Formats: sequence, C-alpha cells, structure tokens
Amino acid sequence: MTPPDGPTGQTEETLTDSETIRVLGARRSIRDFADRDVTDEQVTAILEAARRAPTSGNLQAYSVIVVRDPETKAKLAKIAGGQKHIETCPVYLAFVADLTRIETAFQRNGRDLDDNNLEMGLMASIDASLVGMAAYVAADSLGIQGVMIGAMRNDPEAVAEVLGLAQRTYVVFGLCLGYPAGQPKQKPRMPAEGVIHYERYDAAKAVGIVSPYNAQLKAHYDDINKPTDDDSWSADVDKKYAERPRDHLRAALKGRGFDFR
Ligand SMILES: Cc1cc2nc3c(=O)[nH]c(=O)nc-3n(C[C@H](O)[C@H](O)[C@H](O)COP(=O)(O)O)c2cc1C
Repeated sequence: MTPPDGPTGQTEETLTDSETIRVLGARRSIRDFADRDVTDEQVTAILEAARRAPTSGNLQAYSVIVVRDPETKAKLAKIAGGQKHIETCPVYLAFVADLTRIETAFQRNGRDLDDNNLEMGLMASIDASLVGMAAYVAADSLGIQGVMIGAMRNDPEAVAEVLGLAQRTYVVFGLCLGYPAGQPKQKPRMPAEGVIHYERYDAAKAVGIVSPYNAQLKAHYDDINKPTDDDSWSADVDKKYAERPRDHLRAALKGRGFDFR
C-alpha cells in the first residue's frame, strides 16, 4: 500500500534528515569504554551490514579479524605504541587488505601475484577501509562506538605475526569497539566551503580555510584543557609529519607481498 506521504515514505523533513545522517553527524572517536560487553550477535550484525559495502570490481579483497583475547589485544596495543583503548575495548576488529583469493584465481592459469602493483594494493586497501567505515557506522547505530587504529601500520610484520596473517595480507587499520564511558566534545571539522567544491576545484578556498580552522581547533583544545599552539592544526601536522611517517612501510608491505609500485 502507498504510504500517505508518498511512494517513498518521505516527508519534507525526511528529505534531508535521517537516522544515518544523525548518527554520522554526532560521530566522534571514543577511547574510554563502559564496563559492558558487546555480544557475538552484535558483532555478527555489524559485520553482516558492513559486508554490503561496495567493493572494487567485486574483488572483495579484504578480511576482518575479530579479536577479544586480552593477550592478543595487549600485544597489538604494544605495537600501536601503548594505546590502552586497544586493551580496554571489549572487541577489536582488524581490517585486512587481502590479495589471497585473487591469487587463487590467477593460479588456475599457472600465474601468481608476484607481479602485483600499486592499483592492486590500493583496491584491497580501499575495500578494507570501506568495510571498516561501514562497520563503524553500523556499530554506532547500535550505540556501540570506538576509534580506528592506524598504528597497526607501525609494524605490519609484527601485527601479521600476532594475528597469524597469510602472505599477501596486511592490516590497514584496526577498530576498537564498545559502549562509550562518556561522550567527549566533538572535534571541529574544517569549514565545508574549503573541503566541498562544486563542479570545479577551488585551490584558494581549499587552503583558505586553514587559518580560520586553526583558531577554531585552538578554541576546542582550550575548552577541553589540551595544550596547543596558536596555529593549532598547522603546528600539529608540521610536528607530526615533517619527518616522513612510517617510512619503512613500503618495504614492510613489499615483504608481505604488496608491491605498491
Ligand atoms: C585510518 C585512521 C586511523 C586512526 N588511527 C588512530 C590511532 O592509531 N589512535 C587513535 O587514538 N586515533 C586514531 N584515529 C582517530 C583520529 O585521531 C580521529 O578520527 C581524528 O582525530 C578526528 O577526531 P574524531 O574522530 O573524534 O572526530 C584514526 C582515524 C583514522 C580514520
């Protein structure tokens, strides 16, 4: 039967508003967790939804590892530079770029993936990332929140060892999940006018928002009593990334069977 407000069930209000938009709009990283478990059924529901994420050429070049074991989480936390939330979250998900199944397709004709390239590695990494973000949003819609952990790339070999990864796989990032112990203030985002462009890229607008954002981010950090410089974002980025970050990564991933060339 056609609903009273039209065939799609949309009213004026729901044309621009939805549960998903509200969930995304309220999102923030959570690093402190309540003493409340996330059930296996919940993890399954989250991952079943996430597995519907789009995937390059239907390659589905990813795997997910669900980690609950405290010892495993402690090892991963250490690799991540001692990030305690990896240990304190009830469930940790590792999103893996995975070329193994593609290689089996190639092997049918006597080929292997020794000659894989940047595009192959990117497709797998993007697939893993899209599933990861979808899982994040699906979890959030159940009130389960957390934080992504890129520090898995600090030492891909050590992570592979801990998780028993096969050759031609690596963990792109992890995701701590649990019920939040509280809601930290949302970190402001750069103004939309420099990030969203219409029809053509506007270089002046893209960089023009940095200075006002520095002031906005400094006000946020002042508000939560976190020390920062006057040019907050610029100073952070300059400090953190002036030295090439994770410069051994290319070699480490080559060792895992990703050429990225
Ligand atoms: C791919 C990725 C990796 C991240 N890695 C870490 C991490 O290792 N540790 C951490 O505490 N936060 C990590 N974060 C969270 C970011 O620091 C956070 O999203 C950002 O500062 C914005 O804050 P918000 O998410 O609260 O808005 C990561 C986020 C992404 C997308």
